[in-house]
Amino acid sequence: MVCDRNFFVVDCPKDDNGNYISIDIASIFPLSQDLFLEIGSGKGEFISAYGQKYPSYNLLGLEAADKRIVNTLKKLSPEKHPNVRLMRMYVDESIGNIFPAESVSGVFIQHPDPWPKRKHHRRRLIQPAFLNSLARILKPDAQVQISTDHSGYAAWILEEFLASPCFVSVYNDPVRIHSTFEDHITTWFEAEQRRQGFDPQFMLFKRI
Ligand SMILES: C[S@@+](CC[C@H](N)C(=O)[O-])C[C@H]1O[C@@H](n2cnc3c(N)ncnc32)[C@H](O)[C@@H]1O
Repeated sequence: MVCDRNFFVVDCPKDDNGNYISIDIASIFPLSQDLFLEIGSGKGEFISAYGQKYPSYNLLGLEAADKRIVNTLKKLSPEKHPNVRLMRMYVDESIGNIFPAESVSGVFIQHPDPWPKRKHHRRRLIQPAFLNSLARILKPDAQVQISTDHSGYAAWILEEFLASPCFVSVYNDPVRIHSTFEDHITTWFEAEQRRQGFDPQFMLFKRI
């Protein structure tokens, strides 16, 4: 519920210059358990369903748009989702300053904005500096699941991950047309894109 905003939405701490600084994960969640991030949690279909299905995980949704946070709050209740929290932030390589090294057990990135025009490619989330930061905060063997319905961005994502010394594809055929994930949850955005003929491609990478 939207009225539970104070329960679910946590501030991303910043220093006096507005730079992100490290958060105290223990102060955010009531239980100390594996932490998973969803980057660009959108309208919250995934984090609400997954959080309820896996109460033994802590789930933090990182989302840039406040209207998406509001959409997500409508799907959450403190009773059903004590292990879910949301943080409003624009994710980039500064994520490496926010979470302690090797503190994150896995990451979900579903339909990141593709920024299809070449002049906007620098705005894409998946960049070398971001992957370095992600590698720093992930535990060894932690997995990053990514889906996109944009074939150009799929090729870009694959190239960036394979160029990184910190990640390998879990599968020999790294780009798949079926989810790499047995608990796949179809989000509103995925359903809408499929309806328009843009089927997602799925990739699963592992921190080495
Ligand atoms: C295309 S939607 C997909 C939403 C959701 N993952 C899904 O599959 O339904 C992309 C979402 O990512 C958010 N977003 C885009 N860039 C972001 C960034 N750098 N950091 C955090 N959120 C971002 C947008 O606000 C939007 O909610």
